[in-house]
Amino acid sequence: MVNKITVVGGGHVGESCSLMASQQELAKEVILLDIIEGMPLGKGLDQFQAAPVQGFDTRVRGTNDWADTAGSDLFIVTAGVARKPGMSRDDLLKTNAGIVKSCAENIKKLAPESTVIVVSNPLDVMAYVAMATTGFPRERVIGMAGILDTARFRAFLAMELDVSVEDIQALVLGGHGDSMVPLVSYASISGIPLTYFLSQDKLDPIIQRTRKGGGEIVGYLKTGSAYYAPAAGAIQMAEAIVKDKKRILPCSAFLQGEYGQEGIFIGVPCKLGKDGLEGILEVPLTDDEAAALNTSMAAVRGTMDDLAKLEY
Ligand code: LAC
Repeated sequence: MVNKITVVGGGHVGESCSLMASQQELAKEVILLDIIEGMPLGKGLDQFQAAPVQGFDTRVRGTNDWADTAGSDLFIVTAGVARKPGMSRDDLLKTNAGIVKSCAENIKKLAPESTVIVVSNPLDVMAYVAMATTGFPRERVIGMAGILDTARFRAFLAMELDVSVEDIQALVLGGHGDSMVPLVSYASISGIPLTYFLSQDKLDPIIQRTRKGGGEIVGYLKTGSAYYAPAAGAIQMAEAIVKDKKRILPCSAFLQGEYGQEGIFIGVPCKLGKDGLEGILEVPLTDDEAAALNTSMAAVRGTMDDLAKLEY
């Protein structure tokens, strides 16, 4: 358990993160920060009033004041606007770049030793904005997307095959966009390759549904995007870091030569422990998977180019 985790942004993802972090007692104190006056204070108080019932001792509270986040061990940045139907994650670029930049400036000033998990979209590029603005090393700025994308793949496989989600192992790499790369060669059910259970023509629609999994939920919600599964993904990363679990999880990390790329964040298998990003695993890919990963990297580079042209 660490002393303080701050969740930046009190929307649906942020409030879910602060509740889950508190229920799991990942820190002595969890701060939920938002600029909307009063809102995070109400949510934080409500969440702490669940503590006597559920039996957690994490002091969770909300604030409108960045000063309350000083010295946080870990930040989960969820601030920004969400997609509406018909929008791509990239449509959020300018607005969210400005928001994430200003959050990162505060984090740099108030908690220079902290680790930052970025959840805001477009994810891979927002992780870059956070790292560039804080000036933190890549070990301490990591994006959450691969766990969510992999969880969707696992959930759809469990629904199709009527097996426990717990027994399904999978890996989705690449950018957090429709060109993400679900790796069939690394998917298994209790060690039995996925191809034993499903033919390619059964798998293809599941892969497509995974790629568009975020958009499917935006289509239903109409006023915003998913939050329970994104929050669960961020909390799994937070747990791996604060408990020094050395977990191997797909996360968006800043590449410095891995997979033949540098200068961008992209989803790759990462080792997470107390030092944050403790390693990137370069796993062999089939030719098709490598080509798909390159396509996904090109999409993220395109958004990085758009960012470079912006004043934010
Ligand atoms: C999603 C959004 C949050 O994938 O990126 O649901």
